[in-house]
Amino acid sequence: MNTAATPIPSLRLLFSPAEYESVDPANLQGTTCVVFDVLRATSTMLEALGNGAAAIRPAREIAGALALKQRHPDALLAGERDGLRIRAPLTGGVDFDLGNSPREFTRDRVAGRDIIMTTTNGTRALEACRGAEAVHIASFGNLSALARHLVASGTGRLWLVCAGTLENASFEDALGAGALVDRLLQETGGAGTWAIDDSAQIVWDLYQRHRHGLPEAARNARNGRRLLSQPELAGDVPICFQEDRNPRVVTLGKDGALRTSA
Ligand code: MLT
Repeated sequence: MNTAATPIPSLRLLFSPAEYESVDPANLQGTTCVVFDVLRATSTMLEALGNGAAAIRPAREIAGALALKQRHPDALLAGERDGLRIRAPLTGGVDFDLGNSPREFTRDRVAGRDIIMTTTNGTRALEACRGAEAVHIASFGNLSALARHLVASGTGRLWLVCAGTLENASFEDALGAGALVDRLLQETGGAGTWAIDDSAQIVWDLYQRHRHGLPEAARNARNGRRLLSQPELAGDVPICFQEDRNPRVVTLGKDGALRTSA
């Protein structure tokens, strides 16, 4: 009889670009990465797929997005720099079709379409995870579905990757990651079921503090205050903080595209 205990899975968090960009891709073998960019890239991607988009093709840079457009001419171009839709002066003449507001990605605009997307930090964090065994995106909108999937898939090493704001950690990504830690522990029956790194413990504690005050907690975030101060963008914030609004698992495929997988 084999009496060896199954090792409990480990859970760690990466707070900022300095952390996730210093990871050697070889160290991501056997690792599942979940990328958070609550305000707004991963929330917007979830909204697009929830409204019927076929795939999201992330590109770290504008030039990469334009190169993908050559290969996928029917795809929509989406993304932001400084929070605003990418326009001709930044691309050498091409206006992007969409920005990075979840409210733009309506069923009318995106159903059945491939979307090429580049954002300041969200697609940057996705790029850093490409060596991982599996890569998913997360926001408040898909926490429960994703937690169920991660537990069922039996991952042994789970890293929550917070895209951050410019070069810094961001409050909203840490809060979203803490909410996923909470869902994971609910699924598996408590703290002893995971080897929780201090980084994951920190964000779990943060979520306990704010769980009954979402999305008001957005005011604690630099990016939240920036969006809330602009009348045309403020409406994005409650959407990005709405729990289980888009209950789906989104996985990065071998072809570099994000699709709904469950
Ligand atoms: C990003 O990827 O840095 C963000 O989604 C920025 C934004 O809110 O547009």
